Amino acid sequence: MALPLAGAVAVVTGASSGIGEAIALRLAAEGAVVGLLARRGKLLEALCAGVTERGGRALPLVADVTDLAQTEAAMRRIGDSEGRLDILVNAAGTARPGDFVTSPAGSWQSMIDINLSGLLNSTHAALPHLARAVEGPRGIGDVLNISSIAGRRVGPGNPIYSATKYAVGTFSEYLRKEVLDRSIRVSVVEPGWVDTPLTTDVPRDRHYRWLQPDEVADAAHYILTRPAHIAVNELLLRPVGQLD
Ligand SMILES: NC(=O)c1ccc[n+]([C@@H]2O[C@H](COP(=O)([O-])OP(=O)(O)OC[C@H]3O[C@@H](n4cnc5c(N)ncnc54)[C@H](OP(=O)(O)O)[C@@H]3O)[C@@H](O)[C@H]2O)c1
Repeated sequence: MALPLAGAVAVVTGASSGIGEAIALRLAAEGAVVGLLARRGKLLEALCAGVTERGGRALPLVADVTDLAQTEAAMRRIGDSEGRLDILVNAAGTARPGDFVTSPAGSWQSMIDINLSGLLNSTHAALPHLARAVEGPRGIGDVLNISSIAGRRVGPGNPIYSATKYAVGTFSEYLRKEVLDRSIRVSVVEPGWVDTPLTTDVPRDRHYRWLQPDEVADAAHYILTRPAHIAVNELLLRPVGQLD
């Protein structure tokens, strides 16, 4: 039987836009209390107001995941007010395409800071609250990390983005082992091209249709609603037609 999301307490990082926004709104629509974490507070407030209008519960958590103190404060806010955290979705991320040799030194730092250090910060900050998920109605905690197809293969023009996403996969597999006896599941979703603000400047291939954020939210929903004894640790989804 599917594990209900109603009554779950979740935080989604990167919730102001794209994939994170779609996942946050899906969780809220299914009755979860959702903390929307990102830097752009006005966007978060508008999204939370929309959730409230539709009868759901969401709260804006304005924080920069590269700042550990801000991230810990955000997790404490929801963990303390709701008594626990059941689900953490790490979707905050950035990309800065370019070959390595021709890119200015240091131009890759934001990808390392947000995609990797930020994900480590939010996960570390969430874990004490996730540890109490076992006492909640779901009886299980979930950490769902949005990696990328670039975490499974290195394409041209995105070496450091790819390196951060490989690192997310490596870390997730490690974390899975460290927290499995605390009733916390760890999953990685690895999408191919998704139509979001992150990819606005990427030329669209005319021969195939890109994924939509809602379609990645479908994958997250599938993982998070598996019965508590089943862990879907990895899910890779490409648009049909995407070669690699
Ligand atoms: N689009 C694709 O084709 C694709 C494919 C595979 C994987 N992904 C991954 O999917 C995830 C979401 O990307 P997207 O395509 O949905 O991009 P997006 O629409 O640009 O969303 C990125 C989100 O990350 C947040 N963010 C960025 N830096 C942050 C920081 N320092 N602290 C807190 N939040 C931060 C942004 O919010 P603020 O600016 O408000 O902080 C925004 O909500 C990323 O991890 C990306 O690598 C994307």
